[in-house]
Parts: sequence; structure tokens; C-alpha cells
Amino acid sequence: MHHPSLKPFPDDFLWGAASAAYQVEGAFDADGKGPSVWDVFVREPGRTFQGSNGDVAVDHYHRMEEDVALMAEMGLTAYRFSVSWPRVLPRGRGEPNEAGLAFYDRLIDALLARGIEPVLTLYHWDMPQALQDEYGGWEDRRIVDDFGDYCALLFRRYGDRVKTWVSLNEQNYNLSNAYLLATHPPAAADRKRFYAANHIAFLANARAIRLFRQWVPDGRIGPSFAYSPAYPASCAPADMLAFDNAEEFTNHWWLDVYCRGRYPQIALAWLRERGEAPDIRPGDIEALAAARPDFIGLNYYYTLSYAHNPPDGVGMQRINTTGQKGSTPASGVPGLYRTAPNPALETSNWDWAIDPAGLRIALRRLTSRYGLPVLITENGLGEFDRLEDGDRVRDDYRIAYLRSHLHACREAISDGVALLGFCAWSFTDILSWLNGYQKRYGFVYVNRDETDARDLRRVRKDSFFWYQRAIASGGREL
Ligand code: BG6
Repeated sequence: MHHPSLKPFPDDFLWGAASAAYQVEGAFDADGKGPSVWDVFVREPGRTFQGSNGDVAVDHYHRMEEDVALMAEMGLTAYRFSVSWPRVLPRGRGEPNEAGLAFYDRLIDALLARGIEPVLTLYHWDMPQALQDEYGGWEDRRIVDDFGDYCALLFRRYGDRVKTWVSLNEQNYNLSNAYLLATHPPAAADRKRFYAANHIAFLANARAIRLFRQWVPDGRIGPSFAYSPAYPASCAPADMLAFDNAEEFTNHWWLDVYCRGRYPQIALAWLRERGEAPDIRPGDIEALAAARPDFIGLNYYYTLSYAHNPPDGVGMQRINTTGQKGSTPASGVPGLYRTAPNPALETSNWDWAIDPAGLRIALRRLTSRYGLPVLITENGLGEFDRLEDGDRVRDDYRIAYLRSHLHACREAISDGVALLGFCAWSFTDILSWLNGYQKRYGFVYVNRDETDARDLRRVRKDSFFWYQRAIASGGREL
């Protein structure tokens, strides 16, 4: 679709950047915080790249004022962060930890004082270890009430000042890693448990949204979804069918439940036939349907191409966590689909396809299928960065990535997509869960590596100044 001229970004477009508590805060046991499943998981040998962990992370907990000052200097109009559940409820429920709640009060107030809209994520993977131990976290329906109570606590505390909320971050990616690939806690590889845990997480998401209506009636809320639009590897009918399967099982399975309150029929029938479908009880579907979000949070990094995979074909494989280009194997579900290389696209050193048109496609598909506005809650490039003498980081590859993806946003807006904003991933460098600190995403370099926290000095990368100019021009100068 060609437009003779592109529409501008709307005046109230959110120019943002994002982070997540475990990836930036550090202070893992400070001021009464309880352990999360990640605090425990990273201590098991071999789980993360070079044993890296978020004990200190980039120490945002102690350097919050400095980080917010940098955001203001950059001109951000939104900052997406997550609350650490065990920081505010050390055992997952019960008595709140006032020191933890006060930290987020200070952060929210600091942002608002500088005209930066806080976008608060309720859950970015750091389940309280106490609830994991007690009943297996997402695998038990008791989590629905505990999660609801935790969310209501935050709605009551921050709802007067925070109006844009994200419920669950990447339930699809997190639980796939947790229950299929055994690469996130609790490190299982069991399809039945995977679908069961997802169903309960859907119910928890729905409960959070219903409570939100009660406590923050003038706010907006939506889940963030890791959307990798599927492409067929060829126009051979077998590949087209594999592509169709992939869209159904890797995307619609979540998005249809969030936005339409029901499971996609073809996928559900297949899972029932194999005894892998979740236990859907009376009232569940009604509960899901009563929680349509206000927007879809889109985390977009890459597209995936799919080819036919016979019943004895390849299974799910772990992703590249080293940055050694070309080391990602084909991965799939026998009888449904397998991934295939896309010769039309370049990839990053972590083998992620660089595909700005894929972002436009994602935005258009979401709009056509669900008719909801979209907030891009993550998009960015994880790469090796080099700190030069004189504190310079020339990350022109990141600028090129973001520029082309923001241009795709303008094209999508011109196509008719209601796009609320763009939160680049990430503001400062962060701990990349399985990839340590060498896979960097930030506009602000943080001087540390996997094992040595060094001085944690903040250094503005070239991309910092580029985004600053892009924001100042309202996206006209990319
Ligand atoms: C998303 C997560 O999966 O993508 C982030 O919401 C994460 O927390 C980001 O950091 C990039 O992934 P990775 O594995 O490169 O850190």
C-alpha cells in the first residue's frame, strides 16, 4: 500500500522507552524485598549466560533520580517500567512492604514532575518465590485471587497518578520458556502443563482488568504480547498450512483470548484430540470475555517464517543466547510447523530477523482482527556495543533499526492503525534474562559486564542524541 504522503505522528503520541524491574533495579534483597523466582533460578548453575544475575542489575533502585533526569534530558514523554511483585508483597500476599511501595511512589512522582507519563507493568515475570513454592505459581487457580489482590493494591496506591497500565508482559514468551523450553523458571518441558498454566494466567489477566475498571475507571489497560508475525516460507500449500498453524498456535491462541474472550477453534480442537487442552470450567469463558482490554501492548522484535513439519519433524529448540551468529537451530512442533530462514532479511548477531515491514504488518493484522488501538510497549535492537575512550558509543546499527521501525509506524498510521505510542526497548542497558549484559539495548550505556558491576557509570550513546532529536521534531526527523 503506497501513500503519496505519510500522516504525521499524532500530537499526543507517547515517545517512550521501557524497562522491567528485574532487569534494571538490582537491590534484590534490599528494604524488605522478598525473593522472586528469578532470584532463585539464576543461582542454579548453567541457567543464564556466564551465571549473570540481577542482584545489582544496573542499580536503578539506587540511581533512579539520575536515570529519570536522563529521561527528561532526552525528552521522553512516557516511561514504561514494571513493579516487582515481591518488592511490594515479599511473600506474594499479606502485609505490604511499605519501603517497596514508596520506591515506586518516588519513581512515579519523579516522572510526573518532568512531564513523563508513567506506564506501569503489573507483571514482568518476577513471580514471588513464596507463591511458586506454595502452589506452583501459574499452575494453581489460587494465583488468580492473589494476583488480583496484588493488582488492586497497586491500583489503589498509584491509580490517582498512573493512567496507562500493562497487565501481563509477554505471557506467551515467558510461559513458553517456562513450560516448553525449560529456560525460565520453573524450567519444565510439558505441553499439558504449558496450556494449563496459560489458561490460569488468562484468568488472572482478566481478573486484573475487571478490578482495574473498578479502581481506575479513567485509566486504560492492556496486556503486552510478544508478537512475531508469521510468514510462509514459500507458497507451497504445505508451507501455507504451516504458516496458518503458526499464526493460530503462536499468536491467535493468546490474542483471541485477550481481545475476543475465546480460544481459536481449530487450535483448541487439535489440543483436545491430543489431550493437551486446558481445563476450561463453567464461568471461565464468561470471565475472559468480560475483560476486553483498552489497547494491545505490542512487543515487536522480528518476524518468523514457517515451513511444513511432518509428524516426526523437529521439536522446540532453545534460542541463541550467546550472540554467535548463525547458531539458532530450526524449531517447531511436529505435525504443525517449523521455522525456516528468510533469505529476504538480514539478522542480528542473535539471529533475530531485522524486518521493519514486519512491524507494519503486525500493526495492521492487530487492527484488522481486533479493532483495538495499539501501544508499542517494546521494540529495539540487542547488540554488542563498544565503549570507546572518551565515553563514546557509536551505535549506528541501533539508530538504523529504530529509524526504520519508526518509519514503519508512520506507514501503519497512514494505513489507518490507531497507534498510541512507541516505547523503545530499553532506556538504559539492562540485564537480558538469558544473555547477560553483553546483549545491550539501551540509549544509555551502563558500564558493567556479566560478573563485574564496575562503576555502573551511565554514558549517553549516539542513539540517545538521535532519539532526542526525533522526539523534539515530533517524529518528522528520524
Ligand atoms: C522481551 C522482554 O522478551 O524482549 C524483555 O519483555 C526482553 O524483558 C526483551 O529483555 C529482549 O529479549 P532478550 O532475550 O534479548 O533480552
